[in-house]
Amino acid sequence: MKAAVMGYGTIGSGVVTVLETNRDVIAARAGEVIEVSKVLDLRDFPGDPIEKKLVRDYMDIVNDPEIKIVVETMGGVEPAYTFVKAMLEAGKHVTTSNKALVADKGAELIRIAREHNVNFMFEASVGGGIPIIRPLLKCLTGDVIEGIYGIVNGTTNYMLTKMANEGSDFDEVLKEAQAKGYAEKDPTADIEGHDAQRKIAILTSLVAGRQIDYQDIPTEGITKISAADMKYAKVMKRVIKLVAASKKTGDTYSARVAPFMLHEGHPLYHVDDVFNAIMVHGNMLGDGMFYGSGAGSLPTASAVVGDMVDMARHVDKNVYIRWEEEKLILADSTTDSYKFFVRTSDDENTIESAFKDAGYVNAGIDGEIGVVTEEMTQGEFDEAIKKLSDVRSVIRLV
Ligand code: HSE
Repeated sequence: MKAAVMGYGTIGSGVVTVLETNRDVIAARAGEVIEVSKVLDLRDFPGDPIEKKLVRDYMDIVNDPEIKIVVETMGGVEPAYTFVKAMLEAGKHVTTSNKALVADKGAELIRIAREHNVNFMFEASVGGGIPIIRPLLKCLTGDVIEGIYGIVNGTTNYMLTKMANEGSDFDEVLKEAQAKGYAEKDPTADIEGHDAQRKIAILTSLVAGRQIDYQDIPTEGITKISAADMKYAKVMKRVIKLVAASKKTGDTYSARVAPFMLHEGHPLYHVDDVFNAIMVHGNMLGDGMFYGSGAGSLPTASAVVGDMVDMARHVDKNVYIRWEEEKLILADSTTDSYKFFVRTSDDENTIESAFKDAGYVNAGIDGEIGVVTEEMTQGEFDEAIKKLSDVRSVIRLV
């Protein structure tokens, strides 16, 4: 079975390594050897074994009748979308690790694949090497999924773990994460929560069977989290994690990406460093949790190759995925209820004029106090907080 890889970066090169390292076992599982015959990239890779397989024009792959499976590991919506669409229309199966492409164009590409009796798969687009897409699509089909709560960004989880363990501030930890190669030179997508926003949009679309637009999901990153916040979390025996959450609300879902303070008994409490975990609550299953390597070359490539094997097994058959293009309107996020943690220098009278059942937390920081509010809706909180004259941070509790 001949395959092509579009984008020979961290993941694309990982795919070639996985296929070579585990060649025999993959062949036994797929029914035949899967061999990469073309690699699309504009760069040169002198001395690399794929050097002679390099092509510059995606039409060289479209027009190669021997290639049945195409891997897209370029990232970004364009030109990946144009290339992937052309591959599907040419009757080739496509697997991608590209969450931007899947979040934006997933429903359409699934339809195009169905129309051409091929498959569009994307296990690697959420949770890196952790199987989560296939379990949702195949194993949990007897359940109504009522909630998904995930730590789905390795970079920010690494940073928050460092901040909690070492007391260091955000900027310092970001520099360290960049030096170690976890955070990219432009870390915006990770630290502002955009990466997690796309991933929870994909997962929610799959359990709803309809298009969720990632732009509709209220999203806060971790850039405002400070060493002082971490001190309060420690006193409260909690940890701060960037959580991507989605909860069934009537006929739709309410979704949010934000830093949350998790209590010690929460299943995501112990998920540290670059690891990811996705907790799923089904109405029959109860709780399930998927944990493991959520990013990086080989873990992500492992998920891509898993898709390739599935495609080799279904080379003449489209495997049905329910993700309709018609958009699902999310529930009004101002009706979500939480307890909130607030840091302020205001006096008790002012605090209690805003929150009638305020609890106080002292982390030994001069000139301010931590407040835990009663459970209230986001809308009520947004009104109440206006009564404070100084707000140093706000973090939801779960
Ligand atoms: N930048 C992402 C992360 C890579 O840190 O999790 C995996 O999608």
